[in-house]
Amino acid sequence: IKIYVPRDTTTLALGGEKVVSMILAQAESRGIDIELVRNGSRGLFWLEPMIEVQTGNGRVAYGPVEARDVAALFDAGLPEGKSTHRLALGDPEEIPYLKKQQRLTFARAGITDPVSIADYKLHDGFKGLENSLALSGQMIVDEVKASGLRGRGGAAFPTGIKWQTVHDCAADQKYIVCNADEGDSGTFADRLVMEADPLMLVEGMIIAGLAVGSTQGYIYLRSEYPVAHQIMKEAIANAYQAGYLGENIQGSGKKFDLEVRLGAAAYICGEETSLLESLEGKRGVVRFKPPLPAIKGLFGQPTVVNNVLSLAAVPFIMAHGSKAYADCGMGRSRGTLPFQLAGNIKQGGLVELAFGPTLRELLDDFAGGTETGLPMRAIQVGGPLGAYLPQSQWDTPLDYEAFAAIGAVLGHGGVVVFDESVDMTEQARFSMEFCVEESCGKCTPCRIGSTRGVEVIDKIRAGDKVEANLALLDDLCETMIDGSLCAMGSMTPIPVKSAFKYFPEDIALAHSRMS
Ligand code: NAI
Ligand code: SF4
Repeated sequence: IKIYVPRDTTTLALGGEKVVSMILAQAESRGIDIELVRNGSRGLFWLEPMIEVQTGNGRVAYGPVEARDVAALFDAGLPEGKSTHRLALGDPEEIPYLKKQQRLTFARAGITDPVSIADYKLHDGFKGLENSLALSGQMIVDEVKASGLRGRGGAAFPTGIKWQTVHDCAADQKYIVCNADEGDSGTFADRLVMEADPLMLVEGMIIAGLAVGSTQGYIYLRSEYPVAHQIMKEAIANAYQAGYLGENIQGSGKKFDLEVRLGAAAYICGEETSLLESLEGKRGVVRFKPPLPAIKGLFGQPTVVNNVLSLAAVPFIMAHGSKAYADCGMGRSRGTLPFQLAGNIKQGGLVELAFGPTLRELLDDFAGGTETGLPMRAIQVGGPLGAYLPQSQWDTPLDYEAFAAIGAVLGHGGVVVFDESVDMTEQARFSMEFCVEESCGKCTPCRIGSTRGVEVIDKIRAGDKVEANLALLDDLCETMIDGSLCAMGSMTPIPVKSAFKYFPEDIALAHSRMS
């Protein structure tokens, strides 16, 4: 009997290992022969630890399971996949939260053993690579261009055009660098790729190497992701052993090497040029652009720097064709975006959808309301540099251009919900203080401006010359937008300004709370 228990960070944090020990103990004491598979999470975090049993009619899921539930689950026929226990969820594919999604990138998440080459191949794995090995670099670049894929790290720059720039540079050594320094608050999609389907990222990076003529890849991974690090290392070792990495990939005469490098927990190292500095062993400080990393990147060589999700989308495109990907989405936002639902909601998790539905539809269909039961009031989309959106903006379609039109960003797809008890002036302060903490210090508007910004916000919250200080804050924000070298300084004003613009009534409330 095959029983699946995820080994991702969320499941482990929720007691996954204790559940595993209990399953093994129960099986042994009852003389039941089981094969325990450590899969990845399907991203339905509110149901983790979600265990699954393989039956003749497909899988049956149970969750959220605690160690103390296991004996009763065995009594209720878990080994046979019976659905009598209150935690039985039936066929996991039929759970509405999963069924309503369009999973292209996360199609295998939770289904396979993340580090098994055989399991990966059984579920469409390495098909994109096989197709790519038969193509020229330019043909791969053209296919990625035709898919309409745009950088999923947040900036949404067309991936195919970035690859074209690197492809067209003449150099002895080019690099593929995967940005896995996922630092946005409320985001976890990169981690889920690495913990649930790391071979997809390996495959995407090899294809990128074939496309642009690079033989060396690095995954720059944040050190706060030790589980992802372990799983990634196992997947890479298995890919080397199976002849998908190293010399002569699958007898093709092509070569690609891949290593994981750990960052040291600085948000700014998610910015591509400070990431490259850090990868070169230096302090993570932002570089001037130009030159673009595509022309002069790692060790001064042409370098593709792509987010995990961008590279992870590539195997699907190369396996099923650019059209299959481009057919999803709206306007210039093609394909799918894995949204990450977090904050004050009942059903946190990963929701992969084609671009197009509204923010309200996303929340109505998946969030399950707030955890506190209070009405939702503000939603921050796109990480700590994204706008706080009030009800009046929730009918905006989830599309890069539609969000830009309201002064907001989709970013990396993080969606953090706040209920009506939130003090938005406190959130504005938090956003500005985040910049104080995380600024690399290279330019004045960001380094000094953010510190002055916190002081001005404190005065506004205390009711001190509110009108004059709001005008001063506005001025300061404009200086940060115009004078900062990177997104850290130039985007911090987005959440700060949105908090005061859409929730001005909180100023008086903050004042009365503080006095
Ligand atoms: P950017 O707009 O300067 O550049 C986007 C990408 O396109 C870069 O890789 C750049 O090198 C490349 N590029 C631009 N022109 C090119 C050309 N002609 N040929 C080849 N490549 C070209 O944006 P940046 O500063 O890289 O990223 C800012 C974004 O990062 C923000 O929009 C924000 O949403 C996002 N972000 C994401 C975080 C995360 O945790 N994923 C954290 C913080 C910010
Ligand atoms: Fe560094 Fe801030 Fe300037 Fe970016 S805006 S380069 S983080 S000081």
